[in-house]
Amino acid sequence: LANVDLENESTLAIVKPDGISGNYTSSIRKIILESGFSVQKELTVHLDEDSVRSFYDEHSTKSFFPSLVKYMTSGPVLIMVLQKVNAIADWRALIGPTDALKAKVTHPHSIRAMCGQDLGRNCVHGSDSHDSAEREISFFFTKTYPGIEP
Ligand code: TYD
Ligand code: MG
Repeated sequence: LANVDLENESTLAIVKPDGISGNYTSSIRKIILESGFSVQKELTVHLDEDSVRSFYDEHSTKSFFPSLVKYMTSGPVLIMVLQKVNAIADWRALIGPTDALKAKVTHPHSIRAMCGQDLGRNCVHGSDSHDSAEREISFFFTKTYPGIEP
């Protein structure tokens, strides 16, 4: 049998503006810790439009992009680096599907079902792959990110 190396993995989580304004931060943090993640780093910021455009660059040509930028700049967000074995897939499973309205039906115990409102306003983010996690973590947690205090 191959030696299975259960290495810790890091992923980027964001509590989006409606998660913060709806006071879901402590419930979300509780779920994070009870699910075996450790919070390696965290940062509360009010993102500016350029930061959101750059963070979500892969979606820049989509019709929903302007509303995504408006939503993500509508209030402060809590950005966290979460660590555990299989963190990327496990965090995506915990948050549930992108459309929070559908999540309430198909994944009623997911975080997006708990605090999301619809397809656009889904209260949390999670990196979708190893490459995304690396890019997203270094996007916010570098010496050069111009964090703005809320
Ligand atoms: P996406 O990366 O497809 O979803 P996820 O956050 O689950 O990885 O889209 C990024 C965000 O864009 C999504 O969280 C909410 C918003 N969005 C819309 O507003 N409308 C849409 O049709 C889609 C697909 C996403
Ligand atoms: Mg995505």
